[in-house]
Amino acid sequence: MRRAPTQTAPRYPAHMRDAAIHLPEGYSIRLMVEADYPEVTAICAAVYPTERPYTSEELAAHHRVFPDGQFIVVHDASGAVAGAHFTLLLKMALFHIDDPWDVLTAGGSFTDHDPEGHTLYGADLMVHPSHQHHGIGRALTVATRGLVIARKLWRTAGGSRMPGYHAFVDALSPDEYIAKVKRAELVDPVLTAHLHDGWDAVTAIEGYLPNDAESAGWAAVIQWINAECPPPAERALLNNPRRGR
Ligand SMILES: CC(C)(COP(=O)(O)OP(=O)(O)OC[C@H]1O[C@@H](n2cnc3c(N)ncnc32)[C@H](O)[C@@H]1OP(=O)(O)O)[C@@H](O)C(=O)NCCC(=O)NCCS
Repeated sequence: MRRAPTQTAPRYPAHMRDAAIHLPEGYSIRLMVEADYPEVTAICAAVYPTERPYTSEELAAHHRVFPDGQFIVVHDASGAVAGAHFTLLLKMALFHIDDPWDVLTAGGSFTDHDPEGHTLYGADLMVHPSHQHHGIGRALTVATRGLVIARKLWRTAGGSRMPGYHAFVDALSPDEYIAKVKRAELVDPVLTAHLHDGWDAVTAIEGYLPNDAESAGWAAVIQWINAECPPPAERALLNNPRRGR
């Protein structure tokens, strides 16, 4: 008797199924593996030309401390890595609201990952320029939310670049700029994408990525609250103090 053809479509863990639904045709999503490191480094160099890209050692550290939080989208036909979303768990009450990326990610190593943390911190979301605007950033964002819901975490949080801000630096305060992007009176190449993907922008912070001249050194703290398991009111991100200067 002839067997039915083998199922070739990837089988996704339950918390990644929504992300898979959001993927454009011809792409799949999975967790990062060692063979991805060189391509991830190349994407990083392409999208952050002023930053030192991740090394293989740093990516191996991400994988070691929190393998479940390192998401990769693959272009099926070529096998190329199209995008990545790297996360770690943190107790946000231990940080200032305006701590820089280096502090939140232990210098990009993720060795401050805290398995008891209630916040999934989105340390990086990047899509290769030739695969942008296909919905891959959205699918990667949905994947992290699936993890938050599956683990009954409070929220995802992150720092959004706002690379359109440099053109408005003399006209608008960073918070005024964010308010206009939120009201869709201005479009920002990164913050608008995050807002369309359901993040909320909480406040502007200075020095998150100090070399980010396009964002004039500013960023927006962004969050998405898990409605099924929200943080207690006293743990709202805005209750975190600012760094003393
Ligand atoms: C930000 C980034 C990850 C978005 O990835 P993407 O795969 O192109 O995004 P998507 O195609 O999933 O788009 C998601 C939403 O954002 C919108 N969007 C994406 N890029 C946009 C842009 N440049 N300007 C305005 N809106 C944009 C899309 O229209 C979509 O919203 P919609 O469905 O309501 O129309 C990608 O541009 C990138 O890698 N940028 C460089 C690295 C970076 O700065 N990362 C963010 C660090 S905070």
